[in-house]
Amino acid sequence: MDSKQTEKIKKRYNRISGVFDLMDHMIREKWREDLLQHAYGEVLEVGVGTGANLKYYPEGTSVTGIDFSSNMLKRAREKADQLPRDFTLNEMDIENLEFEDDTFDTVVSTCVFCSVPDPIQGFKELRRVTKPTGRIIMLEHMRSDTEYIGKVMDLLNPVGLRIIGANINRRTIHNIDCAGLKVGQQDYLMSSIMRKLILSPNKK
Ligand SMILES: C[S@@+](CC[C@H](N)C(=O)[O-])C[C@H]1O[C@@H](n2cnc3c(N)ncnc32)[C@H](O)[C@@H]1O
Repeated sequence: MDSKQTEKIKKRYNRISGVFDLMDHMIREKWREDLLQHAYGEVLEVGVGTGANLKYYPEGTSVTGIDFSSNMLKRAREKADQLPRDFTLNEMDIENLEFEDDTFDTVVSTCVFCSVPDPIQGFKELRRVTKPTGRIIMLEHMRSDTEYIGKVMDLLNPVGLRIIGANINRRTIHNIDCAGLKVGQQDYLMSSIMRKLILSPNKK
């Protein structure tokens, strides 16, 4: 994706970081808690944001969080410092992860792929850094499967994009397929718009 678009979205998250926790109620806490029970071993959370998931990681996991917004990461650091364990938090772009191939047992994302500028490239990077035996676990909102609702989302998309840099009409399952990942489990949490996904890196 062109760096102009990346800079634009990064700036938007830097700008809203102070009020993000107040305005973001898309994900219910019990969904986060449930998702993170699937995390094990060496974990990478991409788009860690203000660190809303950190308190739910099971004992025994070793967690690295990355985000391209330095201001969102500062908030995550504040939350991490209040917890009785260590977290590594780094500024990094999902589309260009600075990790070796096959590094992580679990890769986590929650409401991130609506704003990654080039989502297919992002998913390819997730696949690359996940061990062949590992998993990618996600809570992501996407375009509705109900066509007339999907069309309304297409119409409204420019508004969300302009305000916070998030797309409400991403065809996320298609993007996952294009990146070579395999959907192992898919639960609809809010009609077909919000989904819990467990993906295999599909490397064998
Ligand atoms: C809607 S917020 C969600 C934050 C957090 N995951 C949560 O559940 O509250 C999306 C986050 O993804 C980050 N993000 C989007 N595109 C990114 C990219 N290409 N590389 C790294 N972070 C990215 C944004 O900076 C932002 O912090």
